[in-house]
Amino acid sequence: MTKQEKLQYIFDAIKKAYPSRKLVFGGGSPDMPVMIIGEAPGKDEEAQGKPFVGRGGKLLNTTLESLGWKRSDFYVTNVVKYRPADELGGNRTPTPEEIEKLRPALEKEIDVVDPKLIVVLGRIAMTGLGIEGSMSSNHGQIINKKIGGTDRRILVVYHPAAILRNMNWEPIFREDLSKIRDLI
Ligand code: URA
Repeated sequence: MTKQEKLQYIFDAIKKAYPSRKLVFGGGSPDMPVMIIGEAPGKDEEAQGKPFVGRGGKLLNTTLESLGWKRSDFYVTNVVKYRPADELGGNRTPTPEEIEKLRPALEKEIDVVDPKLIVVLGRIAMTGLGIEGSMSSNHGQIINKKIGGTDRRILVVYHPAAILRNMNWEPIFREDLSKIRDLI
């Protein structure tokens, strides 16, 4: 079975568990050495069925491109595979219970992709992988963590939505992402 076929198997199981949800699974290439993990899809991602295609995704793309990468150099996914919505239909942060419920599927997804490096975007993805501490102390750091029984190297980077709220942080975002090159 190819990685893509194994991933399809995991996604089919998630579909069965969430039959009424619009789901957004991982995208890009599972054969690449770097896996980028975000929080959850937003409205644009839900509409297009692909991760990181909205404003945050565009900032991620342009920053990666400025560092000599293409989006297709990465496998990109989210901790939560559906858009958590509030009562008014807006986006909300996934709850710890929602993250916990999808964690076994995420662990399997990581197992299949088997990346040399995981890049987590933002606090929710970071804590979703069981990493403690604050974004301000962890960003730009490599954290070694056992996930599903395997030692993984994880680079912590701010979420692009946080950078869009404060473009003064863009150089930090770029510098943190520039570390990928030395880590693979
Ligand atoms: N934010 C995320 O965390 N993931 C997406 O796919 C889009 C926005």
